[in-house]
Amino acid sequence: MVTDDIFLELHTLIERFDREQIYILTDSNAATHCVPVLMEELSDLGAPFIQKLRDHTFILPAGEEHKTLDSVCRIWDFLISQHATRQALLLNLGGGMITDIGGFAASCYQRGIPFVNIPTTLLAIVDASEGAKTGFDYHGLKNQIGLFREALETIVYPPFLKTLPREQFLSGFAEMLKHALIASPLEWDRILALDIDRLYRHPDERLKEEFSAILTRSLDIKRYFYEIDPEEKDMRKTLNFGHTIGHAIESRLIERGEPQPHGYCVLWGMIAELYISHAQLGFPSQHLAQLVQIAKEYYGGILFSCKDYDRLIALMRHDKKNNGGQINFTLLRNIGNPFINRTADDELIREALDYLFSI
Ligand SMILES: NC(=O)c1ccc[n+]([C@@H]2O[C@H](COP(=O)([O-])OP(=O)(O)OC[C@H]3O[C@@H](n4cnc5c(N)ncnc54)[C@H](O)[C@@H]3O)[C@@H](O)[C@H]2O)c1
Ligand SMILES: [Zn+2]
Repeated sequence: MVTDDIFLELHTLIERFDREQIYILTDSNAATHCVPVLMEELSDLGAPFIQKLRDHTFILPAGEEHKTLDSVCRIWDFLISQHATRQALLLNLGGGMITDIGGFAASCYQRGIPFVNIPTTLLAIVDASEGAKTGFDYHGLKNQIGLFREALETIVYPPFLKTLPREQFLSGFAEMLKHALIASPLEWDRILALDIDRLYRHPDERLKEEFSAILTRSLDIKRYFYEIDPEEKDMRKTLNFGHTIGHAIESRLIERGEPQPHGYCVLWGMIAELYISHAQLGFPSQHLAQLVQIAKEYYGGILFSCKDYDRLIALMRHDKKNNGGQINFTLLRNIGNPFINRTADDELIREALDYLFSI
């Protein structure tokens, strides 16, 4: 839930648990920017409790490269060293790296303790912190090991976003654009009307309220798709729009040693997949042009040459969401009119990549 009173939310929650058994997992950046805010907000619970919480805070180094089995073991070692029991509660305070790995570590610790996600990046708010996917990267493969396990609660406190670097803000915003595109023309027009620069730099109260309303809708859209199909057998695949090509771009950029935030890759993926949607299903080109305009204004283009195409297509083929060797796409006939389990031949995919890399 989105709240402007994190004290109230956490106080109600903490009352249901043994105060001696509350733990925080965070990363080095959230420890700098968000832990002090959290402690300040909770200060009415008394100095001894705040001190206990500090002692019970485990900080992982920031960065996707730390979303590993080794970090999971370090979380478990910490919980053991602090005598955490089955009655313990883990608060995951951070971006998607922390909510994913913390959710996994909690789900296995003593056969499972509850965890609460307190996302501090826009991407974690709109994409990672709800939906029950937990896990870590293994042998360089993203989210290769994990569990479906629902957080006891997700508490969204937008003031944490104040310290977010611009590119992290834009990364999450791309997922909000995705939610609007799969949902309805109304959502799309509403999000297009936002002044992104002002929103990031110095939003007035009216803009903050409008953003908060769009954020709440964005969460509703994601929730709608994962609640009808929690284990991604069919309808949840709608949320993968932009991700088949987006993930391939993300992996290729990592291979080249030039990683880009997840949301940027998804935005580029959406452009290529809308191109395919246009060719196959007649998706209106004026809406594709609107997305290209956003890319040009805020995200920039991306440079790949046709020498990369074979590798990109191979990466698409290896996506764990595929079935039977076919590349699986979610395509749109129009805004709010998605089709899952579509495929495209290599020639059309190359054409879409040509289009994307020429913008
Ligand atoms: N479970 C899911 O359904 C799901 C969905 C999408 C993404 N993910 C996962 O989420 C991760 C990406 O999420 P992310 O973009 O949040 O990455 P992240 O957690 O690495 O955070 C990005 C950066 O922002 C920093 N940060 C966090 N909060 C901050 C704040 N308030 N102020 C300043 N800096 C802050 C982090 O330390 C990090 O450097 C990936 O591991 C991805 O696999 C999971
Ligand atoms: Zn995503």
